[in-house]
Amino acid sequence: MKIFSTFQQFNLKPRDEHTKIEQFRILLNLIQSIISTYITHQNLKNFNIQKLYRNLRCIIQIFTLYQKKINKMITINIDDIKLMTWIKHEDFYEVTFQYKQNFQDKFIFDIQSGTLGHQALVKKIAQDNFTENYEMLETIKRTQNGEIIKCRRRENNEVFVAKIQQNNHFLIERELQINLYLAENPHENVASMVEYYFENDQIILMYPYFSGGTLNQLVNTYANNISKLKVKSIMKKILSGLNHIHNLGIIHRDIKMDNIMIEEIDDHKCVKIIDFGFSAFKDNLSYLSEKCGTIGYFAPEIINGQFYNNKCDIYSLAQVFHMLLTGNPMFDRNMNTQQIIRLSKNNLFAIDYRNIKESKAQQLLFKMLDFQEKRYDVQLCLQHSYFFKAENLELKINNVRTFEFKSPF
Ligand SMILES: Nc1ncnc2c1ncn2[C@@H]1O[C@H](COP(=O)(O)OP(=O)(O)OP(=O)(O)O)[C@@H](O)[C@H]1O
Ligand SMILES: [Mg+2]
Repeated sequence: MKIFSTFQQFNLKPRDEHTKIEQFRILLNLIQSIISTYITHQNLKNFNIQKLYRNLRCIIQIFTLYQKKINKMITINIDDIKLMTWIKHEDFYEVTFQYKQNFQDKFIFDIQSGTLGHQALVKKIAQDNFTENYEMLETIKRTQNGEIIKCRRRENNEVFVAKIQQNNHFLIERELQINLYLAENPHENVASMVEYYFENDQIILMYPYFSGGTLNQLVNTYANNISKLKVKSIMKKILSGLNHIHNLGIIHRDIKMDNIMIEEIDDHKCVKIIDFGFSAFKDNLSYLSEKCGTIGYFAPEIINGQFYNNKCDIYSLAQVFHMLLTGNPMFDRNMNTQQIIRLSKNNLFAIDYRNIKESKAQQLLFKMLDFQEKRYDVQLCLQHSYFFKAENLELKINNVRTFEFKSPF
């Protein structure tokens, strides 16, 4: 291991004292240093301008990429960088940045492939050769800003899903940041991004393919005949995923039937929370005045423009819970958007009691739908007696081997 290049120390002033021109000059300085390091240490015979460009893009990316420090996300600004060192290993370079009060972090930089990634995320690195790596099989869904495509990885025929979006909105960049953070902190009930690409002004997020479909598809297939036991099991898994997300300081903000999927691998079925397109870090207060979500799912405090917290996910999950229990949404399907908004504003809803016989389920549903201050958080939901019963029952049923194979879930 040898250190072969140390970047110049930048003489920095506090961020807001920099003029735009000064910031630009610092960036140029840095790029210049990168180029000279590159040219000095690369075999000039194999010099490839495209690769250099790709490398530079990766390097610049880190100034906007995330950093983890005491479980918080920090965006590095170019003018916070003080020192950068390159340490050569067998087949990659370890890049250390020193920024702010001597805070350091390390990245892995693979010169050959032109990729740069956080150490713990060596596989999940920015690339721009999506079409080289994947064959597109079919479009699963066209979304507002792109499409969801089922793909085959050429190398091993494994099937994945690509979420392709135009990189034209800050929410897309934020979705990437949150996905990176979740990939570093995985949980079995939260979809974990495996790779991402920057290609043609698009950000492409890659996920494993979940063949079991969304909860909406599940309810449509089995009408309202999903066994009560399975509803408990699904709810417990969603809450467990949500607990993990909330513990990481993230609010999902778009929990709904279409954003919860079932992964089926062999005989094993697992629930996955997907779609972090509206997610935000709860520490960043400015996010919490944003109105977002899906009509019929979002909590009264969001519609009313009040300051909200991660309990908005619980309100949305209550709508999912109701759908699973009854097969019907809480707001009549014939209602228009304005009618739903008017009712949601005042936290008015109609629970379909005919189809929710179990009193524990009714109680929990109510707690999840309460106004923000009194509404249960994830922990309280998980501790509700509705789930303890489920566990015992599940145990008994597993012991006597029932119709598990025919069960939709
Ligand atoms: N990993 C996956 N495996 C299989 N299907 C998926 C996967 N990810 C997403 N889908 C399908 O694509 C749909 C849209 O995905 P996603 O919610 O991430 O995109 P979106 O742009 O937020 O769409 P929407 O606006 O409809 O919420 C999902 O509802 C699901 O049907
Ligand atoms: Mg979605």
